[in-house]
Amino acid sequence: MAVSFVVNGEERRSAADQMTPLVDVLRDEFFLTGAKAACREGACGACTVLLDGNPVVSCLVPVGMLEGREVRTVEALAPTEELSPVQQAMEEHDVVQCGMCFPGIVMVLTSFLAECPQAGPDEIKTALVGNICRCTGYERVVDAAVALAQRR
Ligand code: FES
Ligand code: FES
Repeated sequence: MAVSFVVNGEERRSAADQMTPLVDVLRDEFFLTGAKAACREGACGACTVLLDGNPVVSCLVPVGMLEGREVRTVEALAPTEELSPVQQAMEEHDVVQCGMCFPGIVMVLTSFLAECPQAGPDEIKTALVGNICRCTGYERVVDAAVALAQRR
């Protein structure tokens, strides 16, 4: 049975098997390749998207659970040339290395800083506890997020 849900403001329909992970539907069916399928075990955060506004690891969300729900992916943050504030802060601090972890980090920070716009370094580190960066650029990620929070 097909599942209908909203992705980045558009009504979408997937006829994939109900247990197919959301990350695979996004990437293979809808060609939204921002979310990365890295560990596929919920451990790295690279596949993070927002589900009804909250960050989830999309490798562990079966598409069958999504009827009527709303998904937001990193592609929605900068629909035009203009970067989102979080992306802009990352660019200003020259944070990105290989980029594998970044869609997840950006989605977590986007959600977290919307809730806690003036968060400090410790809160930001806690928010990012589920996001692993194999290039280990954590300090600059936190610096960029703190700088953004301080501007608010
Ligand atoms: S691929 Fe989903 S948490 Fe690592
Ligand atoms: S920038 Fe390479 S994994 Fe984070």
